[in-house]
Amino acid sequence: MPRTSSTQIQPIEWHDGVLHIIDQTLLPAEARYIETSDYRAVAAAIRRLAVRGAPLIGIAAAYGVTLAARGGDSMTAAAEELAATRPTAVNLRWAIERVLAATGGDAALVEAEAIRMHQEQIASDVRSGELGAALIADGATVLTHCNTGSLATGGIGSALGVVKTAYWQGKRISVLVDETRPLLQGARLTAWELAREGIPHELIVDSAAAGLIARGRVQAIVVGADRIAANGDAANKVGTYGLALAAQAHGVPFYVVAPASTIDARTARGSDIVIEERDGDEVTSFASARTAPDGTAARNPAFDVTPAHLITAIISERGVLRAPYPRTIAAMTQPAAAAR
Ligand code: MRU
Repeated sequence: MPRTSSTQIQPIEWHDGVLHIIDQTLLPAEARYIETSDYRAVAAAIRRLAVRGAPLIGIAAAYGVTLAARGGDSMTAAAEELAATRPTAVNLRWAIERVLAATGGDAALVEAEAIRMHQEQIASDVRSGELGAALIADGATVLTHCNTGSLATGGIGSALGVVKTAYWQGKRISVLVDETRPLLQGARLTAWELAREGIPHELIVDSAAAGLIARGRVQAIVVGADRIAANGDAANKVGTYGLALAAQAHGVPFYVVAPASTIDARTARGSDIVIEERDGDEVTSFASARTAPDGTAARNPAFDVTPAHLITAIISERGVLRAPYPRTIAAMTQPAAAAR
């Protein structure tokens, strides 16, 4: 039986009009919460990755719009500011549009919708965890990238929810965790979550992954997504595409796990997805210490796009989709149109 473990971290909590957000930039050294009633502080937290992960930034933004409504600020201005914080994860825009559409500007309704969205994500993770765990064999070593756990969704996680569920089902799995340069979401956050759950894991540098896959040390790769286009191309944390190439070269299944809200029917293909470019300082430094010579230029794309043909299956709370993705995605997102 999948469960929400007692050790699960709550990265975001809503109490009496105050939003509590764990500051992920301080983890694993310190679990400190930002407490705010100002949507601008929520926008700032999303921008600097204090709150991160596609589903969780959507939930944070929905609460941000609620804060604006409660505080008498313009909901439209708040929505625009929150939506502009990060461009790649479609969940952000999806969540903001959903709270605005559902409520007609009524503060109480906005709050109820944000809470509903938060609860739905928790349930979604449990379901995708079950569906994905069925694809993980007993004894498998599973490789994952970035952080797709509780800290990224508010529930058990998407890809990491699959790992946790397989482990809770009694499968003897172990996890290889990519450290995920430049901001180390794997080392700082995923390793921290797995340790809290007691799930066996080893941390690797990103560049070790292909060699370990080639040597047969990996039986499945599970990653999340920030936006999945209508043709199945999936944007995720930079480095994901290289893993998918290595997986295909060596016959290792490559699974993308994401809630249905990450599928963007309005984006036809991966090349249409805007890739966030972040500050080069994140590349020229390591844990705030400068590592490159002064003046070194850097490119810092935060995401890359894995083409659909490299993806073995896309797992969401609504089912396990396989190629041809244009058809299976349309059947899931617009069942009536696909049946015509
Ligand atoms: O820049 P981040 O840390 O927000 O990037 C997060 C990722 O790329 C995750 O893999 C993705 O959002 C899926 S989270 C369930």
